[in-house]
Amino acid sequence: MTAATITARQSFAETTARATVTARRIAFSFRNVTKRFGDKTVLQGIDLDVHDGQFVAVIGKSGCGKSTLLRLLAGLDKPTAGELVHAGETKDQKRTRIMFQEPRLLPWARVGANVDVGLTGIARGSEVRQKSLDILAEVGLADRSEEWPSVLSGGQRQRVALARALVGHPRILALDEPLGALDALTRIEMQQLLERIWLTKKFTAVLVTHDVAEAVALADRVVVIDSGRIALDLAIPVERPRRHASPELAFFERQILDQLYTQRTS
Ligand SMILES: Nc1ncnc2c1ncn2[C@@H]1O[C@H](COP(=O)(O)OP(=O)(O)OP(=O)(O)O)[C@@H](O)[C@H]1O
Ligand SMILES: [Mg+2]
Repeated sequence: MTAATITARQSFAETTARATVTARRIAFSFRNVTKRFGDKTVLQGIDLDVHDGQFVAVIGKSGCGKSTLLRLLAGLDKPTAGELVHAGETKDQKRTRIMFQEPRLLPWARVGANVDVGLTGIARGSEVRQKSLDILAEVGLADRSEEWPSVLSGGQRQRVALARALVGHPRILALDEPLGALDALTRIEMQQLLERIWLTKKFTAVLVTHDVAEAVALADRVVVIDSGRIALDLAIPVERPRRHASPELAFFERQILDQLYTQRTS
Protein backbone atom coordinates (compact mmCIF):
# COMPACT_ATOMS: atom_id res chain seq x y z
CA MET A 1 0.00 0.00 0.00
CA THR A 2 1.45 3.42 -0.95
CA ALA A 3 1.67 6.37 1.43
CA ALA A 4 -0.87 8.23 -0.77
CA THR A 5 -3.35 5.36 -0.51
CA ILE A 6 -2.94 5.24 3.26
CA THR A 7 -3.43 9.02 3.51
CA ALA A 8 -6.56 8.89 1.32
CA ARG A 9 -7.95 6.02 3.39
CA GLN A 10 -7.10 7.83 6.59
CA SER A 11 -8.84 11.00 5.51
CA PHE A 12 -11.97 9.08 4.41
CA ALA A 13 -11.99 7.02 7.59
CA GLU A 14 -11.42 10.13 9.72
CA THR A 15 -14.36 11.88 8.11
CA THR A 16 -16.55 8.82 8.72
CA ALA A 17 -15.30 8.44 12.30
CA ARG A 18 -15.92 12.11 13.02
CA ALA A 19 -19.42 11.93 11.55
CA THR A 20 -20.19 8.92 13.75
CA VAL A 21 -18.70 10.55 16.81
CA THR A 22 -20.54 13.86 16.46
CA ALA A 23 -23.81 11.96 16.70
CA ARG A 24 -22.66 10.50 20.03
CA ARG A 25 -23.00 11.82 23.54
CA ILE A 26 -20.02 13.19 25.45
CA ALA A 27 -19.01 10.90 28.34
CA PHE A 28 -16.77 13.45 30.07
CA SER A 29 -14.95 16.70 29.41
CA PHE A 30 -11.82 18.19 30.91
CA ARG A 31 -12.31 21.94 30.66
CA ASN A 32 -9.16 23.98 30.96
CA VAL A 33 -7.94 21.66 33.71
CA THR A 34 -4.74 22.51 35.54
CA LYS A 35 -3.19 20.40 38.29
CA ARG A 36 -0.36 21.62 40.51
CA PHE A 37 1.46 19.93 43.34
CA GLY A 38 3.04 22.73 45.36
CA ASP A 39 4.76 24.96 42.81
CA LYS A 40 5.03 22.15 40.24
CA THR A 41 2.50 22.35 37.42
CA VAL A 42 1.80 18.82 36.18
CA LEU A 43 -1.17 19.43 33.87
CA GLN A 44 -1.88 22.76 32.27
CA GLY A 45 -5.05 23.88 30.52
CA ILE A 46 -6.18 20.40 29.46
CA ASP A 47 -9.26 20.48 27.21
CA LEU A 48 -10.53 17.04 26.27
CA ASP A 49 -13.98 15.83 25.23
CA VAL A 50 -14.40 12.07 25.17
CA HIS A 51 -17.46 10.50 23.60
CA ASP A 52 -19.56 7.82 25.20
CA GLY A 53 -18.14 4.40 24.36
CA GLN A 54 -14.92 5.75 22.91
CA PHE A 55 -11.61 3.97 23.58
CA VAL A 56 -8.89 6.54 24.25
CA ALA A 57 -5.23 5.73 24.86
CA VAL A 58 -3.01 8.21 26.71
CA ILE A 59 0.73 8.16 26.05
CA GLY A 60 3.62 10.31 27.22
CA LYS A 61 6.99 10.07 28.86
CA SER A 62 7.36 9.08 32.50
CA GLY A 63 6.25 11.82 34.89
CA CYS A 64 4.28 13.79 32.26
CA GLY A 65 1.04 13.50 34.25
CA LYS A 66 -0.80 10.48 32.84
CA SER A 67 -1.67 8.92 36.20
CA THR A 68 -2.60 12.35 37.52
CA LEU A 69 -5.05 12.74 34.62
CA LEU A 70 -6.62 9.35 35.41
CA ARG A 71 -6.85 10.15 39.13
CA LEU A 72 -8.73 13.34 38.28
CA LEU A 73 -11.02 11.39 35.96
CA ALA A 74 -11.74 8.80 38.64
CA GLY A 75 -12.44 11.51 41.22
CA LEU A 76 -9.46 10.43 43.40
CA ASP A 77 -8.06 13.94 43.19
CA LYS A 78 -9.37 17.42 42.29
CA PRO A 79 -8.12 19.86 39.66
CA THR A 80 -6.33 22.97 40.93
CA ALA A 81 -8.19 24.99 38.29
CA GLY A 82 -10.73 24.23 35.58
CA GLU A 83 -13.32 21.50 35.81
CA LEU A 84 -14.10 17.94 34.89
CA VAL A 85 -17.66 17.45 33.68
CA HIS A 86 -19.30 14.02 33.57
CA ALA A 87 -22.20 13.90 31.15
CA GLY A 88 -24.23 11.36 33.13
CA GLU A 89 -27.03 12.71 35.28
CA THR A 90 -27.41 9.85 37.73
CA LYS A 91 -24.80 8.22 39.97
CA ASP A 92 -25.00 5.10 37.78
CA GLN A 93 -24.31 7.03 34.60
CA LYS A 94 -21.30 8.73 36.18
CA ARG A 95 -19.77 5.58 37.66
CA THR A 96 -16.03 5.42 36.99
CA ARG A 97 -13.64 2.63 37.95
CA ILE A 98 -9.88 2.60 37.83
CA MET A 99 -7.54 -0.35 37.30
CA PHE A 100 -3.80 -0.24 38.05
CA GLN A 101 -0.64 -1.99 36.89
CA GLU A 102 -0.69 -4.19 39.99
CA PRO A 103 -3.98 -6.03 40.63
CA ARG A 104 -4.33 -4.86 44.27
CA LEU A 105 -6.36 -7.91 45.30
CA LEU A 106 -7.16 -8.63 48.95
CA PRO A 107 -4.90 -11.61 49.80
CA TRP A 108 -7.20 -12.79 52.60
CA ALA A 109 -10.28 -12.96 50.36
CA ARG A 110 -11.01 -15.59 47.72
CA VAL A 111 -11.28 -14.62 44.05
CA GLY A 112 -15.11 -14.35 44.10
CA ALA A 113 -15.05 -12.24 47.27
CA ASN A 114 -12.45 -9.95 45.67
CA VAL A 115 -14.81 -9.37 42.75
CA ASP A 116 -17.74 -8.79 45.17
CA VAL A 117 -15.85 -5.73 46.45
CA GLY A 118 -16.64 -4.02 43.13
CA LEU A 119 -20.35 -4.19 44.01
CA THR A 120 -20.07 -2.40 47.35
CA GLY A 121 -22.99 0.02 47.57
CA ILE A 122 -24.35 -1.19 44.21
CA ALA A 123 -25.89 -4.64 44.84
CA ARG A 124 -26.78 -6.79 47.86
CA GLY A 125 -27.35 -10.38 48.95
CA SER A 126 -27.34 -13.30 46.54
CA GLU A 127 -27.37 -10.89 43.59
CA VAL A 128 -23.79 -9.96 44.45
CA ARG A 129 -22.32 -13.44 44.05
CA GLN A 130 -24.28 -14.12 40.86
CA LYS A 131 -23.02 -10.94 39.24
CA SER A 132 -19.46 -11.77 40.34
CA LEU A 133 -19.70 -15.27 38.87
CA ASP A 134 -21.08 -13.87 35.61
CA ILE A 135 -18.25 -11.39 35.16
CA LEU A 136 -15.64 -14.00 36.19
CA ALA A 137 -17.00 -16.19 33.39
CA GLU A 138 -16.58 -13.30 30.96
CA VAL A 139 -12.90 -12.93 31.84
CA GLY A 140 -12.39 -16.70 31.54
CA LEU A 141 -12.17 -17.51 35.27
CA ALA A 142 -15.58 -19.12 35.87
CA ASP A 143 -14.09 -22.03 37.78
CA ARG A 144 -11.64 -20.05 39.95
CA SER A 145 -13.97 -18.12 42.24
CA GLU A 146 -13.14 -20.21 45.33
CA GLU A 147 -9.37 -19.96 44.86
CA TRP A 148 -7.01 -17.64 46.76
CA PRO A 149 -5.37 -14.85 44.71
CA SER A 150 -1.92 -16.25 45.66
CA VAL A 151 -2.39 -19.38 43.51
CA LEU A 152 -3.21 -17.42 40.34
CA SER A 153 -0.73 -16.31 37.67
CA GLY A 154 -0.02 -12.60 37.14
CA GLY A 155 -2.31 -12.51 34.08
CA GLN A 156 -5.11 -14.27 35.95
CA ARG A 157 -4.83 -11.80 38.85
CA GLN A 158 -5.15 -8.94 36.40
CA ARG A 159 -8.26 -10.62 34.99
CA VAL A 160 -9.73 -10.74 38.52
CA ALA A 161 -8.91 -7.03 38.88
CA LEU A 162 -10.63 -6.39 35.54
CA ALA A 163 -13.67 -8.38 36.71
CA ARG A 164 -13.80 -6.38 39.96
CA ALA A 165 -13.58 -3.11 38.01
CA LEU A 166 -16.34 -4.12 35.59
CA VAL A 167 -18.79 -5.98 37.82
CA GLY A 168 -20.61 -2.77 38.78
CA HIS A 169 -21.07 -1.77 35.10
CA PRO A 170 -19.03 1.44 35.17
CA ARG A 171 -19.71 3.92 32.38
CA ILE A 172 -16.04 4.86 32.37
CA LEU A 173 -13.11 2.53 32.93
CA ALA A 174 -9.75 4.20 33.60
CA LEU A 175 -6.79 1.86 33.08
CA ASP A 176 -3.37 2.88 34.39
CA GLU A 177 -0.89 0.65 32.54
CA PRO A 178 -2.86 -2.45 33.55
CA LEU A 179 -0.88 -4.73 31.26
CA GLY A 180 2.55 -3.24 31.95
CA ALA A 181 3.81 -6.06 34.17
CA LEU A 182 2.69 -8.95 31.93
CA ASP A 183 4.84 -10.97 29.54
CA ALA A 184 4.38 -10.28 25.81
CA LEU A 185 2.04 -13.20 25.02
CA THR A 186 -0.17 -12.74 28.09
CA ARG A 187 -0.25 -9.06 27.28
CA ILE A 188 -1.63 -9.65 23.78
CA GLU A 189 -4.23 -12.08 25.18
CA MET A 190 -5.27 -9.45 27.73
CA GLN A 191 -5.49 -6.78 25.02
CA GLN A 192 -7.85 -9.04 23.06
CA LEU A 193 -9.92 -9.74 26.19
CA LEU A 194 -10.12 -6.06 27.03
CA GLU A 195 -11.20 -5.17 23.49
CA ARG A 196 -13.81 -7.96 23.41
CA ILE A 197 -15.32 -6.90 26.75
CA TRP A 198 -15.25 -3.21 25.78
CA LEU A 199 -17.07 -4.03 22.51
CA THR A 200 -19.75 -5.98 24.41
CA LYS A 201 -20.22 -3.70 27.41
CA LYS A 202 -19.83 -0.40 25.54
CA PHE A 203 -18.21 1.56 28.38
CA THR A 204 -15.84 4.46 27.76
CA ALA A 205 -12.23 3.32 28.16
CA VAL A 206 -9.22 5.51 28.96
CA LEU A 207 -6.01 3.49 28.82
CA VAL A 208 -2.64 4.82 29.92
CA THR A 209 0.12 2.82 28.28
CA HIS A 210 3.79 3.14 27.35
CA ASP A 211 3.30 0.72 24.48
CA VAL A 212 2.54 2.57 21.25
CA ALA A 213 1.65 -0.68 19.43
CA GLU A 214 -0.87 -1.46 22.19
CA ALA A 215 -2.35 2.03 21.94
CA VAL A 216 -2.97 1.85 18.18
CA ALA A 217 -4.19 -1.76 18.39
CA LEU A 218 -6.87 -0.90 20.95
CA ALA A 219 -7.79 2.76 20.79
CA ASP A 220 -10.13 4.84 18.63
CA ARG A 221 -8.01 7.80 19.54
CA VAL A 222 -4.53 8.36 21.00
CA VAL A 223 -3.70 11.41 23.10
CA VAL A 224 -0.02 12.26 23.66
CA ILE A 225 0.79 14.41 26.70
CA ASP A 226 3.93 16.49 26.86
CA SER A 227 4.90 19.14 29.41
CA GLY A 228 1.43 19.02 30.94
CA ARG A 229 -0.37 19.68 27.65
CA ILE A 230 -1.98 17.62 24.89
CA ALA A 231 0.72 17.51 22.22
CA LEU A 232 -1.13 15.20 19.81
CA ASP A 233 -4.73 14.00 19.57
CA LEU A 234 -4.85 11.38 16.83
CA ALA A 235 -7.87 9.40 15.58
CA ILE A 236 -7.12 5.74 14.75
CA PRO A 237 -9.84 5.02 12.21
CA VAL A 238 -8.89 1.40 11.57
CA GLU A 239 -11.64 -1.20 11.42
CA ARG A 240 -11.88 -3.96 14.03
CA PRO A 241 -10.83 -6.66 14.41
CA ARG A 242 -7.37 -5.17 13.95
CA ARG A 243 -4.29 -7.08 13.01
CA HIS A 244 -1.20 -6.43 15.13
CA ALA A 245 1.62 -4.78 13.17
CA SER A 246 -0.52 -4.30 10.05
CA PRO A 247 0.68 -1.50 7.68
CA GLU A 248 -2.32 0.65 8.64
CA LEU A 249 -1.56 0.44 12.37
CA ALA A 250 2.17 0.95 11.67
CA PHE A 251 1.29 4.20 9.87
CA PHE A 252 -0.35 5.61 13.01
CA GLU A 253 2.31 4.14 15.27
CA ARG A 254 4.94 6.05 13.26
CA GLN A 255 3.13 9.38 13.78
CA ILE A 256 2.99 8.85 17.53
CA LEU A 257 6.62 7.75 17.74
CA ASP A 258 7.63 10.81 15.70
CA GLN A 259 5.79 13.00 18.20
CA LEU A 260 7.41 11.27 21.19
CA TYR A 261 10.82 11.35 19.50
CA THR A 262 10.49 15.08 18.75
CA GLN A 263 9.66 15.63 22.43
CA ARG A 264 12.81 13.83 23.49
CA THR A 265 15.14 15.64 21.11
CA SER A 266 13.66 19.15 21.36
N1 LIG B 1 0.49 13.48 45.24
C1 LIG B 1 1.53 14.06 44.65
N2 LIG B 1 2.27 14.99 45.29
C2 LIG B 1 3.32 15.60 44.70
N3 LIG B 1 3.69 15.36 43.42
C3 LIG B 1 3.00 14.46 42.72
C4 LIG B 1 1.88 13.76 43.30
N4 LIG B 1 1.38 12.92 42.36
C5 LIG B 1 2.14 13.08 41.26
N5 LIG B 1 3.11 14.01 41.48
C6 LIG B 1 4.10 14.47 40.49
O1 LIG B 1 3.43 14.78 39.30
C7 LIG B 1 4.21 14.40 38.17
C8 LIG B 1 3.36 13.50 37.28
O2 LIG B 1 3.14 12.26 37.96
P1 LIG B 1 2.28 11.10 37.30
O3 LIG B 1 2.28 9.98 38.27
O4 LIG B 1 0.98 11.64 36.86
O5 LIG B 1 3.19 10.76 36.02
P2 LIG B 1 3.00 9.61 34.92
O6 LIG B 1 2.92 10.27 33.59
O7 LIG B 1 1.88 8.72 35.31
O8 LIG B 1 4.41 8.85 35.03
P3 LIG B 1 4.73 7.28 34.82
O9 LIG B 1 4.70 7.03 33.34
O10 LIG B 1 6.12 7.13 35.37
O11 LIG B 1 3.72 6.48 35.56
C9 LIG B 1 5.46 13.75 38.72
O12 LIG B 1 6.50 14.70 38.71
C10 LIG B 1 5.08 13.37 40.13
O13 LIG B 1 6.20 13.39 40.97
MG1 LIG C 1 1.77 6.74 35.94
